[in-house]
Amino acid sequence: MRLDKLLGQAGFGSRNHVKKLIRSLQVRVDGQLARSDSLNVAPNLQTITVSGQKLSHSPDTYYILNKPSGVVSAVRDTQHQTVIDLIAPSDRKEGLYPVGRLDRDTEGLVLITNNGPLGFRLLHPKHHVDKTYYVEVNDQLFSDAPAFFDKGIAFLEGRVCKPAKLQIISSSSELSRAYITISEGKFHQVKKMFLAYGVKVTYLKRISFGPFALGDLPVGAYRELTEQEKEGLKRYLV
Ligand code: URA
Repeated sequence: MRLDKLLGQAGFGSRNHVKKLIRSLQVRVDGQLARSDSLNVAPNLQTITVSGQKLSHSPDTYYILNKPSGVVSAVRDTQHQTVIDLIAPSDRKEGLYPVGRLDRDTEGLVLITNNGPLGFRLLHPKHHVDKTYYVEVNDQLFSDAPAFFDKGIAFLEGRVCKPAKLQIISSSSELSRAYITISEGKFHQVKKMFLAYGVKVTYLKRISFGPFALGDLPVGAYRELTEQEKEGLKRYLV
């Protein structure tokens, strides 16, 4: 962002006033005098001072939301409620977006932030960010199922999934329950994997995403990341 724009937004007055501040050598970036109003600066990475006073940079916002079924993982939608609509207006900071997508009928953990590069990096295949889902299906999961998921399921269109970890909780011919952990995010991936095994997903809920866990957050509620959780994000930002 340009230095003059940043100072304007931070309340240092009109563009002209900001230019005067810079030209009268009152602005420093990381200790160096700023000599140009068009200088590109990054307030989250650099220390900017005006007349010796540090500019306070508003930190990025991070929420974990428990998405209800029926809500779409989008910023806006003409037909359905979005995950951003569930954020109270006073918490709806500029630029918030959901990192990745859950199907409309899937419940569970969605990370919402206004840190643009973070989403790209968390979803990048290189990081192999694990996602764990609680799943209910309409038929039996036999003892061969974990090995079937672990060998990398191939979809009809030819795409092969990375090995997934299946942990069966219970199994019967009407309802089976399991946890599944995947490290990618192909379209309808979990539903398609279970279909490849021969059963249909009747309920899907994401319970963890990388270092974040849904815990007992009620459906439709959200919370800010803890300082410790934010610390854990740093490795995705380098
Ligand atoms: N896999 C699916 O099939 N749906 C989701 O919403 C997430 C993962």
